[in-house]
Amino acid sequence: MNLAEVMENARKRIGPKCHVCPVCDGRACGNVTPGPGSKGPGNGAYVNYMGWQNLRINMDTITDGGNPDLSAELFGRKLSFPLLTAPIGSIRLQFNPEDDVCDFNDDCMAACYETGILHAYGAGMERRVWHRAIEGSERFGNTGIPVYNPDPEEELFELMDLYQGHEKPAAIGAVIDSAGLPHYRTLMSGQGGFRSVSDLRRLKEHAGLPFMIKGIMTVKGALKAIDAGADAIIVSNHGGRVLSDTPATAEVLPEIADAVQGRVKVLVDGGIRSGLDVFKAIALGADACLICRPVLISWYGGGKEGIVCYLEKIRAELEDTMRMCGAHSIAEIERDMVRMTSIRL
Ligand SMILES: Cc1cc2nc3c(=O)[nH]c(=O)nc-3n(C[C@H](O)[C@H](O)[C@H](O)COP(=O)(O)O)c2cc1C
Repeated sequence: MNLAEVMENARKRIGPKCHVCPVCDGRACGNVTPGPGSKGPGNGAYVNYMGWQNLRINMDTITDGGNPDLSAELFGRKLSFPLLTAPIGSIRLQFNPEDDVCDFNDDCMAACYETGILHAYGAGMERRVWHRAIEGSERFGNTGIPVYNPDPEEELFELMDLYQGHEKPAAIGAVIDSAGLPHYRTLMSGQGGFRSVSDLRRLKEHAGLPFMIKGIMTVKGALKAIDAGADAIIVSNHGGRVLSDTPATAEVLPEIADAVQGRVKVLVDGGIRSGLDVFKAIALGADACLICRPVLISWYGGGKEGIVCYLEKIRAELEDTMRMCGAHSIAEIERDMVRMTSIRL
């Protein structure tokens, strides 16, 4: 199976909301697939994508050569390269009503196991989905990291307790920016699932595991996350789905990475579409990246094999870029290996 076949199959199966564009840049779907909740012009996904495209890579081939080491460490786990697949809470509502996120999570964890990376999984509020994901993760090398939505605290504690009697995940995540999605606005007496520092701290304490906070877009937010006990933050605006006119994640990543000074791992997502983009993110200060929509598209195009095919493409591009820039390891990818371009495509 090659990627062209994967994309062709995906086009037949994914349903009317996603057009499986040659590049998944959020232009054709605007407020549709990336929505609901993308207030205003619905430009967030495209801005994210362009954030990476506005960076160029400074190659330097006066180097020892040799095969670069792409491995990275996260939550005590060795990743074969610095990528995670990103959480998707529901496919039924947002893509095709016939499909089940359980099957996606299973195949994604299997693909991540085979590829040597992790799946940050979403499961919404359905117990059935959580049970399947916890069991799936156990089956596939504990590759699943649960990412909890901004639901009421007691319900989240109950979901966390579903891990009793099972292998504990390497970490847990809490997504905070989806508080902006309409259905969360009506939750919790109209408070919409927004979290305070002490709310977040209680989630970490309940889980007793390394804690990742997803949805940080400012230095202030990053410092509050550290205060809440985060071990990792994900610089993310939910793929532009919760508010328009936010900056690209590539724009805010360097200042956030500089401000946290290594106190937490910094991950980033939003519009990352190639191994070159992963390289750029690492150069700007990320420890690892996440990719969401193209992974789902690859699943539609070929199940687990489709995802593996896509992940291998990303890995190969990253490897090639490192070689061309004289970076022998992820740690050797430095900020001066990228530049902002004034040439707009
Ligand atoms: C259909 C869909 C469902 C999503 N569901 C969740 C979710 O349940 N939890 C979460 O943390 N993020 C969720 N996200 C956000 C993604 O995990 C990710 O942050 C975002 O899509 C940016 O990555 P991308 O540009 O590679 O798609 C969802 C995104 C999409 C497109």
